[in-house]
Amino acid sequence: MNKINTAVFISGKGSNLKNLIKFSFKKKSPIKITLIYSNKQNAKGLTFAKQYKIKKKIHSFRNKKKTEKILLLTLKKNKIKLICLAGFMKILSKEFIKKFNGKILNIHPSLLPKYKGLNTHKKILDNKEKFSGCTVHYVSPSLDSGKIILQRKIKINKDETYKSLAKRVLKEEHKLYPEALKKIFN
Ligand code: GRF
Repeated sequence: MNKINTAVFISGKGSNLKNLIKFSFKKKSPIKITLIYSNKQNAKGLTFAKQYKIKKKIHSFRNKKKTEKILLLTLKKNKIKLICLAGFMKILSKEFIKKFNGKILNIHPSLLPKYKGLNTHKKILDNKEKFSGCTVHYVSPSLDSGKIILQRKIKINKDETYKSLAKRVLKEEHKLYPEALKKIFN
């Protein structure tokens, strides 16, 4: 099977990136990761580019239009057919989403459509929700609103803190992203 050329976009520590790289090496993985992009020079996740010998690109998003133009050219040059956003903290423009000749996926730490945007764990605990989880979805022009591909749900514990919830949800994210990719492509 020809694996799909994939770029992963990050801004932070990149635990989902590392997890996706490890998954991509498996025979049953439909993807291979050939590009890592970060809008932040000091994103911890960039160390995985070196570790796993994957090409990396860094461009700040200060001039969004210019950066997206460069990105589209880079994606084309590297024959990227899929973008996985993984802790990428910038919002891609409608034009970028339209012009990119492939699919764009995102992982979000809540049971969408509930709790879009930032500080999800805090909002969930403040609202005394009984359940939380994570969602992999297609990226559409409006934030965290594209078609849902797959979700995992967990029960919130009595003594749950933001930190413990974030940790537990992240563990589920690491299972969910590969599952979602297999669901779409296998
Ligand atoms: C994850 O919780 C992801 O859902 C959110 O940002 C976090 C990124 O974590 N969008 P990591 O950088 O993959 O470790």
